[in-house]
Formats: sequence, C-alpha cells, structure tokens
Amino acid sequence: MSPLSTAVMDVSGARVLVTGASSGIGMELARALVRRGVGEVVLVARRRNRLETLAAELARAGVTCDVDDLDLADETAIDGLLARHPQVDLLVNNAGFGSGFPILDVDPDTLCRLIDVNCRAVVRLTRGLLPGMVKRSFGGILLVGSAAGYVPMPAMAVYSASKAFIHSFTEGLRAEVERRGVRIHLLAPGPVESEFYGVARPGIRRPPARLFASPQAVAEAAVRAWLAGQPELVPGVLPRVGVAALQSLPGVLRRPVMEAAEKRAEAALEAGRRKPGTSSRD
Ligand SMILES: NC(=O)c1ccc[n+]([C@@H]2O[C@H](COP(=O)([O-])OP(=O)(O)OC[C@H]3O[C@@H](n4cnc5c(N)ncnc54)[C@H](OP(=O)(O)O)[C@@H]3O)[C@@H](O)[C@H]2O)c1
Repeated sequence: MSPLSTAVMDVSGARVLVTGASSGIGMELARALVRRGVGEVVLVARRRNRLETLAAELARAGVTCDVDDLDLADETAIDGLLARHPQVDLLVNNAGFGSGFPILDVDPDTLCRLIDVNCRAVVRLTRGLLPGMVKRSFGGILLVGSAAGYVPMPAMAVYSASKAFIHSFTEGLRAEVERRGVRIHLLAPGPVESEFYGVARPGIRRPPARLFASPQAVAEAAVRAWLAGQPELVPGVLPRVGVAALQSLPGVLRRPVMEAAEKRAEAALEAGRRKPGTSSRD
C-alpha cells in the first residue's frame, strides 16, 4: 500500500489476528474481516471452545483458521503467540474488560490485571507485529478504545484511564507509521450489547437495552472505516453527541454531570447488593 493512500485497503488473502474473538465485538470483527476476503485468521481469547466454534464457521467460508487460547495478562503467553504467528498483516487489539465498581470495592490485583490486558498486552502485540508490517509496507492495526476513554467515568476510573491510554497510544502510533503503509484505526464505542457488563458489573442491572448498539453494526462500521483510512470512529449518533458534549464542557461544569453519574452508579450498586443477580459469563 502506498504511504497515506486514500484508496480502500484491499485485504484479500491477508493474515489477521483478532484478540477477544470469543465474544461480542471481537467475534463480529473477525466475521466482518472474513466478509472482506482475508485469507487466514488467528482467533485469540481464553475460552477455547468458543474460538473453535467460530473457527469452524469461518472455515466454511473458505478461510484458514487457527485458534490460540491464552490469557493476555500473561506476557510469556503473548511472546509464545508472537513466535507462533510472526507474520500478521492486520492486528485487531480488541480484548479487554471493565471493572464497574468504585475503586475501594475492587481488589488491587483485578485493577492491575485490567491494565495488563487492556494496555500492556496491546503494546506487546503491536510492538511484536509492527516490524513485519512496516517491512512489507502493508498492514493495519485496529485498537478498541471506548467512549469512556475520552471522559473519565466514576466507578470505572481505572477502565477509563486504560482506554485513555489506548486513545493516546493510537494517535502517537498513527503519526509514526501511517507514512509507512500501516493503517492505524481507533474504534471508540459507546455501550454495546455484549458480555462486557456481565464481566464489569456482575450482578448489577445494566443500562436500558435501547442505549446499546449491536456488536454486528459496530464491527461492520469499524472495519469499513479502518480499511477506508478513517483514523477514528465513535459509532452511533448518541455516543458521538454525548462524547462531544462532555468533552466541550469545562472541567468545572463536567464535574456535576460526573457526580450525578456516580450517584446513579452507587444506587445501582446498592440495589445490586440488596438483590444479587448473576454474571452473563459462562
Ligand atoms: N460492550 C461495550 O459497551 C463496550 C464499549 C466500549 C468499548 N468496549 C471494548 O470493546 C472490547 C470488546 O469488548 P466486548 O464488548 O466485546 O466485551 P466481551 O463480550 O466481554 O468480550 C471481551 C473479549 O475479551 C476477551 N478477554 C478478556 N480478558 C481476556 C484475557 N485476560 N485474555 C484473553 N482474552 C481476554 C474475552 O475472551 P475470554 O473471556 O474467552 O478470554 C472476550 O473475547 C473491549 O476492549 C472493551 O473494553 C466495549
């Protein structure tokens, strides 16, 4: 691909690695890329049975699939993954999780693990696979941030900070490598229908369903924008307006909005404590 080309990237036959492919947005990103004609897909997450089911489906579409079940908090496991798959054209850094409780209610190991998966693994995979892309002057990296990465969220302080890291990292990375034939894209969704809330806030009632985008729509829009060379996407009108509005508020006005959100989170947490539910995770 020529530097700073504005043509839609032709990914037919490309080798792809998708993290967090066992569920939600990652599973749909893998499907959307297969619809674009990629040749090989490596599916990464911890739940091997889920990956194998998806691999069987994608193989029926004529794609070579490999599954690699590993914990992205484990750096040695990531190095093993890179050794097994040193040549990847398109890297999808999607795996991640949230912790939706006030910081004093979460143990420090979980918070640090969140940073390991949401940030450290992303840097390690990107650093590992980028040299091959630059050498071939062909490649792309999609990084999944979040609307929460633009605005700090109460009861999600560490998660918001991890996504702010991804946003900043993506922008710097893009400035470094876009002239070398590698397309860098930030996907920053608002609420998406997936297992995310069951993991982030097990037992707590989720926001109303009408506020959620479908992972299929988000993934399709993201792949279209990425391959077209668009630097960043916040899918959906409501999240775009919400992010723009909160960003435009000076700190002194943003604070009351965040405090109201914090109160709502506390109330939901309290209600959840009184009437525990179950996680959607299997
Ligand atoms: N859903 C939302 O509202 C929303 C909004 C903005 C951004 N996001 C971001 O979108 C991305 C995908 O989330 P999702 O909504 O699709 O949630 P999801 O359905 O919970 O999927 C998360 C994926 O990450 C994988 N994963 C989590 N921890 C892992 C670990 N330690 N090692 C390997 N894989 C791990 C999970 O696989 P295993 O459990 O099988 O390992 C799963 O495939 C995340 O980065 C999330 O922060 C989500």
